[in-house]
Amino acid sequence: MNNTSGGHLETWAVTAGRTDDHNALAPVLWASTAYTTDTVDQGRQLAAGPGAARFYSRYGNPTVRNFEEAVAALEGAPTARAFASGMGAISAVVLGLCGKGSHIVAQNRMYAGTTLLLQTVCPRFGIDVTFVDATVPGALTAAVRPGETTLVLTETPANPRLDIVDLDELGAIEGPFTVVDSTFATPLGQQPLTHGVDLVVHSATKAMAGHNDATLGVVAGATDRLDWLWSFAVLQGANASPYDALNGLHELAARQMKVTGGLLTIDLHGGLEAGTRFVEGTRLALLVTSLGGPETLVTHPASTTHVGLDPDQLDAAGIGPGTVRISVGLEHPDDLAADSLQALA
Ligand SMILES: Cc1ncc(COP(=O)(O)O)c(C=O)c1O
Repeated sequence: MNNTSGGHLETWAVTAGRTDDHNALAPVLWASTAYTTDTVDQGRQLAAGPGAARFYSRYGNPTVRNFEEAVAALEGAPTARAFASGMGAISAVVLGLCGKGSHIVAQNRMYAGTTLLLQTVCPRFGIDVTFVDATVPGALTAAVRPGETTLVLTETPANPRLDIVDLDELGAIEGPFTVVDSTFATPLGQQPLTHGVDLVVHSATKAMAGHNDATLGVVAGATDRLDWLWSFAVLQGANASPYDALNGLHELAARQMKVTGGLLTIDLHGGLEAGTRFVEGTRLALLVTSLGGPETLVTHPASTTHVGLDPDQLDAAGIGPGTVRISVGLEHPDDLAADSLQALA
């Protein structure tokens, strides 16, 4: 299934992935962890390669498969693979594609979980990482070591400062796998594969599932690359749960994606006290460490999403004590403005 069959992406988004639902209108939850086979040969075939949605849950699941097909359709990708979280997807890409002696070029300002994976886990596995300011034209390309760099990893718009990476430049890099975390944009905001990028990653926990009841990650791209990733993922075991995948398919998410993606990051004069008082002072906007739901959410990155960074790293990431991230929801704009103004006051 892909989105080249005509119609608008917003239309596709409503029913994408509903390929195997036996005429049910709503997506179907397949809870079974295992499926019977008639013969040993059939079992051997299902166990040996990607594609089996009805064999064993860590290998695949029909509900998860539907979610994967929906994301593939929306990203214009041949294939997608879902994971138990955004970090499950990112760690599978990094550890599944790289090994001892690999070199990664990574953006210096990303979601802190990704940064910490690269800074703390990669060295233990003999993976060398070069961090660059990916907003500087040519910086990613210049950091690539021909024949040595395995992966170029970016995030755009990046958490929390919304830094933008040039996807055409990223897609033009030859040799290493090029990867972008496109969580903040959703597939309705941008389609990195059309820029030549190899793999697109999402924390579907956010706007893609869209109503704060799914912990989910996904990677979309070419079938051969995803098949390779699948072989790692089956051993990694961070497979998506069908319950979360079902919530990823809910029609509300599709409707909501058209109106969210509204991330705003502000710096309040007055440092920690101002930042804390603002996020604790909003009445409508909820103090939550997440984004992309129907409710407006405020987050204080220095004390939550990026709390693992030391002061120098926070500074390098552009996060100050007064930095506040706002995920704008579906409430009436006048009410949101009034709420922000009273919290600022
Ligand atoms: C841009 C980005 N990527 C990845 C993640 C990790 O996703 P998850 O929490 O689903 O593991 C997050 C979480 O906030 C994020 O904002």
